[in-house]
Amino acid sequence: MKILIVDDVEENRIILNQQLLPYGKCYLAANGVEALVCVKDALSTDTPFDLILLDVMMPIMDGLSTLQAIRSEEHVFGRVGNKESVIIMVTACSEAEVVSKAFFKGYCTDFLTKPIRRKSLVDKLKEYHLITESDRDDALLVSDVKVPHRTKDDIRLDFYNKLFGKLADVGIPAFNEAHKALLKMVVDIDEILWDAIEANLPPSDSEWHVMSEIFSDLVSYTKIHFSAELAYLYEHGYPMAGQHAERHGELVNELNEYNKKIVAMNPDSVRHIRRWLLEWLLNHVNQQDLDYSMFFSEQNRKSKI
Ligand SMILES: [Fe+2]
Ligand SMILES: [Fe+2]
Repeated sequence: MKILIVDDVEENRIILNQQLLPYGKCYLAANGVEALVCVKDALSTDTPFDLILLDVMMPIMDGLSTLQAIRSEEHVFGRVGNKESVIIMVTACSEAEVVSKAFFKGYCTDFLTKPIRRKSLVDKLKEYHLITESDRDDALLVSDVKVPHRTKDDIRLDFYNKLFGKLADVGIPAFNEAHKALLKMVVDIDEILWDAIEANLPPSDSEWHVMSEIFSDLVSYTKIHFSAELAYLYEHGYPMAGQHAERHGELVNELNEYNKKIVAMNPDSVRHIRRWLLEWLLNHVNQQDLDYSMFFSEQNRKSKI
């Protein structure tokens, strides 16, 4: 059986994929646009999907629009009536039955309400003759495969990757690199703070010491970066250079204040330090630094006209 799973949430795709694994080959799409590409491809090679599981609530293109688009594609390829794919809408709505019947009548084959139980899914496959009774019984004997457990390290890695992903591109490679280097120091300190918060224990003396060493590097490197940045802004006639310098000054003062908190090893300030630490750099780069970046790119554009 050829199956298409359409859901914007990765974890849902994984669960459905694992539940359907014994019955056929699953293709995964994260939104309606991706789903349509898969459907068109399948129809044009005369290997249509036997089953499509379609989430109702999705960004970019919602389930209903995707459903209608799939049915019109099928129409183009002459796949109507019993040649249509079985499409089961997956809904999280509380009035799933009412909503689904009202909206999808004539388009979707059926619907299932989240969270989807393996048994109800398999019963639907049987109902639409996608599997036989013995397939169903065999598969039900297989114990449910669990979603891969995300370790603490996975969660952190994900969080820090997202943090780096949020850092705006200011259009000057050397400054982008400096911002990344600063964020790396922030992350190094954050790992210790995060451990402490998670364990509900204050950092040990040696951990405070490590943080304080990284923090003093952070302060020095920030000052170096700030002066390089300002030199560039003045040299290239950035009209807001004065305000930018002021903001740099404020941030250096704040850095010095937080440095003192770390040196004082006050366990009560752990959460507070962590919150500030994760915000100051991203906020500055993504607001004030981005302002000069936009100014220079606009100037660049004008000079080319
Ligand atoms: Fe900067
Ligand atoms: Fe700056």
